[in-house]
Amino acid sequence: MRSVHVTGERLGLREVTVDDVDALHAVYGDPAATHHLPFDPRTREEVAEIVAEAITAAAATPRRLYVLAVTDSETRAVIGVARLHIEADHPHSAEIGLGLRSDLWGRGIGTDLIRLLLKFGFKDLGLHRLWGARSPANTAAQLAMLVAGMVEEGRIRHHVPTPAGWRDSIVHSALADEWPAH
Ligand SMILES: CC(C)(COP(=O)(O)OP(=O)(O)OC[C@H]1O[C@@H](n2cnc3c(N)ncnc32)[C@H](O)[C@@H]1OP(=O)(O)O)[C@@H](O)C(=O)NCCC(=O)NCCS
Repeated sequence: MRSVHVTGERLGLREVTVDDVDALHAVYGDPAATHHLPFDPRTREEVAEIVAEAITAAAATPRRLYVLAVTDSETRAVIGVARLHIEADHPHSAEIGLGLRSDLWGRGIGTDLIRLLLKFGFKDLGLHRLWGARSPANTAAQLAMLVAGMVEEGRIRHHVPTPAGWRDSIVHSALADEWPAH
């Protein structure tokens, strides 16, 4: 398995390890962070399971799932989590997802993280299409994806079941042809 190490100006991406469970729980266990996500805050045990599954998925051939720790380039602290999932039937295309510690929101880190994920997907993995689906009410994700160059494509009705009922998604995408545009 080739281990992922991506370095940006103020952020890095690397493989998650069992030592990252608490840092990831600070995101997935935070009701503010899961507010627009289709699941309730995760328990520490659930996060430990996600990490264990991510480590198993990292060893698969072909590899389809990348669950990556988002690190602060200066301190090396884990400040968030990023996912890139290559579609089984469309291996040129992957869905991305991200979450940051809520005390760090609103400083442009989310936008930088999306730019770094696009670089990883297009340059390192050679993918053609990267897309993300957000809740229609998730303004921060909307702005971060738009500013990073992900075009709004449209609405998938009742895309995901959530604890509160069916939820539509707004899909954004970026294409290798257009990158780097931002
Ligand atoms: C989505 C997320 C990663 C954005 O991270 P962030 O670091 O706050 O993003 P940025 O600081 O780059 O902000 C992007 C834009 O959204 C704006 N913004 C941030 N939070 C906002 C909010 N709550 N309401 C409205 N606008 C907001 C910022 O001002 C910025 O706009 P600008 O470029 O015009 O200044 C972060 O909110 C998060 O982790 N949310 C929880 C998980 C999640 O929703 N993931 C996305 C699923 S699709």
